[in-house]
Amino acid sequence: MTGVPPSSAGPGGRPRVPLALQVFAALSAAVGLVFAGSFLHDMTTLTSRLALHQEGSLRAMSPLAERLIEQSMEHGAPQHISELFRVLAERPQAGTAQLLDARGRLVDPSDLGAARPAAPAPPAGSVVYEVPIEAKPSCTRCHGVSSGRLGTLRLIASDAERAELRRSLVLSRLAMALIGAVVVALASLAIVRRLVHAPLGSVTAAMREVAQGRFGARVEGELPGELQVIADGFNTMVSEIARDRGEIVDLHQKQLAHADRLATLGELAAQLAHEVRNPLTGLSSALQVLQREAEAGSPRRGLIDKMLLQLSRMDKTMGDFLRYARLPETAPRPFALKDALGRVLFLVGPRMKAQKVELRQLLPDSLPLLLGDPGQLEQAFLNLCLNAVQAMPEGGTLEVAAAPDGNGAVLVTVRDSGAGIAPGDLERVFEPFFTTKDGGSGLGLPITRQIVLANGGELRLASEPGRGTTARVRLPRAKGAA
Ligand SMILES: Nc1ncnc2c1ncn2[C@@H]1O[C@H](COP(=O)(O)OP(=O)(O)O)[C@@H](O)[C@H]1O
Ligand SMILES: [Mg+2]
Repeated sequence: MTGVPPSSAGPGGRPRVPLALQVFAALSAAVGLVFAGSFLHDMTTLTSRLALHQEGSLRAMSPLAERLIEQSMEHGAPQHISELFRVLAERPQAGTAQLLDARGRLVDPSDLGAARPAAPAPPAGSVVYEVPIEAKPSCTRCHGVSSGRLGTLRLIASDAERAELRRSLVLSRLAMALIGAVVVALASLAIVRRLVHAPLGSVTAAMREVAQGRFGARVEGELPGELQVIADGFNTMVSEIARDRGEIVDLHQKQLAHADRLATLGELAAQLAHEVRNPLTGLSSALQVLQREAEAGSPRRGLIDKMLLQLSRMDKTMGDFLRYARLPETAPRPFALKDALGRVLFLVGPRMKAQKVELRQLLPDSLPLLLGDPGQLEQAFLNLCLNAVQAMPEGGTLEVAAAPDGNGAVLVTVRDSGAGIAPGDLERVFEPFFTTKDGGSGLGLPITRQIVLANGGELRLASEPGRGTTARVRLPRAKGAA
């Protein structure tokens, strides 16, 4: 019997991905997508808000700085300007400031008269706010009569603060992603266990029971969702299989009994034909003597000729019948012994069950293929098993074993723990019609031996009265079979 072994390979030998892992992957993909979307959204809104906020601060600061510069100019105290720039330089996180003249050159606030290089471009990504310094009447004192712009105050907020925010956002989201992955993994396991493994456990348990031949097994209890449909379908299917199987076994038993009767009748008829042929030969020899003595053309001679013709017809009919009744031609081919014995044991199964006979099978999967006529050999093993079971009316153990015999053949043993055979009978059991059973034919063992011999094997019987009988059948293995 075959079980339902858990397999790690799917159809086509592809490795099977555990269900929990599949659910985990699907959940992770969904959660990850939502997560990545919200992360991108947060990142862009937060950084753009911060940039706006920075620009706002610069804008708020600008009138103050502008005013300070103007007053410093008016009071002829340019050191206040350099003071402002020093304060700003000490707080780089709040931003930096540049003072540009009307031609866009960089003014050194601590030394207004120093050479003015071209102003460097603000660092990429920084927020820049420029405040024009317009010429006022009071400015003419120092700047001379000029109209328009005197210069520009450029306030720059660096990207550092936003970079810091981005980093902390990435770190916190990474930590959340890690926790999320653990939660999703645990959730997948819990979901699969609750919704799939636990309910399917009862289905697979029932399947195993059925695979081991216990057709009374059913999936019990309420299963979640569509699994109940599977369970109901399975239960119905097993009931139908059990019913059909019962019918098949019944039919097999009937056919078996019928075939047994036919075989017995055939053997009997063949024996009868053989018995009849001998006196027929005697009769025709005697008639041939009379024929020679009778005058040719006389009515007596005509009668004898007719009798001889009828006798030869009878002899031919008997010959034809004997040819027909003989064992059919053996058709040898490589076959798996385990399968053949499986079919035999299936047939004797119900009888064993009824007599409480326990079966012990020692049939390794590594057995080589045998060469023979599987149909005939199944008949032979069936006879041996039936004899064994019939010898154990009060129960016992039937052991069917097979192993290579070390000489290139395979030895099959059918052993029972039954009544055994008396030493005097052991020599006679292969004689046709020898039987110790009421209603026995005494043809089982002779036919069995004939089949084994016709298939190139040999059959021996050993018995210990009161302890049991062992039949040993040696059969050739197929050429090239390992
Ligand atoms: N396993 C066995 N245990 C005991 N006796 C056996 C066994 N097999 C065969 N015999 C004896 O050999 C006889 C002949 O067997 P068989 O040729 O199969 O004819 P049948 O089974 O019809 O009697 C049986 O009647 C029985 O006495
Ligand atoms: Mg028999």
